[in-house]
Amino acid sequence: MARRKIVAGNWKMNGSKESIKQLLSELVVHENADVIVASPALYLDYVQALAPKGILVAAQNVSDQDSGAFTGEISVAMLQDLKVSYSLVGHSERRSLYAEDDAFIAAKVAKLLEAKMTPVLCIGETLAEREAGDTFAVCQSQLQAVIDVVGIDAFSDIVIAYEPVWAIGTGKSATSEQAQEVHADIRQFLANESTVVAEKVQILYGGSVKASNSAELFAQPDIDGALVGGASLVATEFNAIIEAAK
Ligand code: G3P
Repeated sequence: MARRKIVAGNWKMNGSKESIKQLLSELVVHENADVIVASPALYLDYVQALAPKGILVAAQNVSDQDSGAFTGEISVAMLQDLKVSYSLVGHSERRSLYAEDDAFIAAKVAKLLEAKMTPVLCIGETLAEREAGDTFAVCQSQLQAVIDVVGIDAFSDIVIAYEPVWAIGTGKSATSEQAQEVHADIRQFLANESTVVAEKVQILYGGSVKASNSAELFAQPDIDGALVGGASLVATEFNAIIEAAK
């Protein structure tokens, strides 16, 4: 089944009004892929106003609460107010640095789905888990925690990003074979509950994606795009990755 490619940029805690304006002015959007930029929350409205037509805007995180005494948090309603329709959820940095566990992440996914927004659910193993031979089990467990809350059919409306933690920010991407192997296992795990959903769901690879390795990754049958960190902050790199997604 042909699945539309997604090239998403996770800007993380980077940028300024000036640098964002410059970056967005240089991005080239193609018909061949959906392009998403995940901006720091503070700049989401600014990015919405400046983003070239065809570029979708995502938050990097969202609260599992509707509103109230949750200092520093951002609600789904606030994202909707800004017409933001995507949000990353469960990025490994949220899991490791801010102690977000599977149940918390599943609640955030549910909140986004309730609002008809699209979660980009990030999963992936650490180097220790890979070296212990637990890669498939870790990814399946992270997925199961969400399936238990929202059900398998909801994955028709969820984008999955497989990001091996050991490849994030290291310049050492998983090989296309390593990535394909895990993507295929993710799809098979979902297919065990619904072949229709498994065929439809878009699974992105993230972890040191660059212009130089993106075409080989995108050529893999179960890799439906990329979630790009550092390279998404460099227009020439990000444009080349978008170009490779055709
Ligand atoms: O969410 C994408 C990010 O974790 C990957 O970062 O810099 O390795 O592309 P990077």
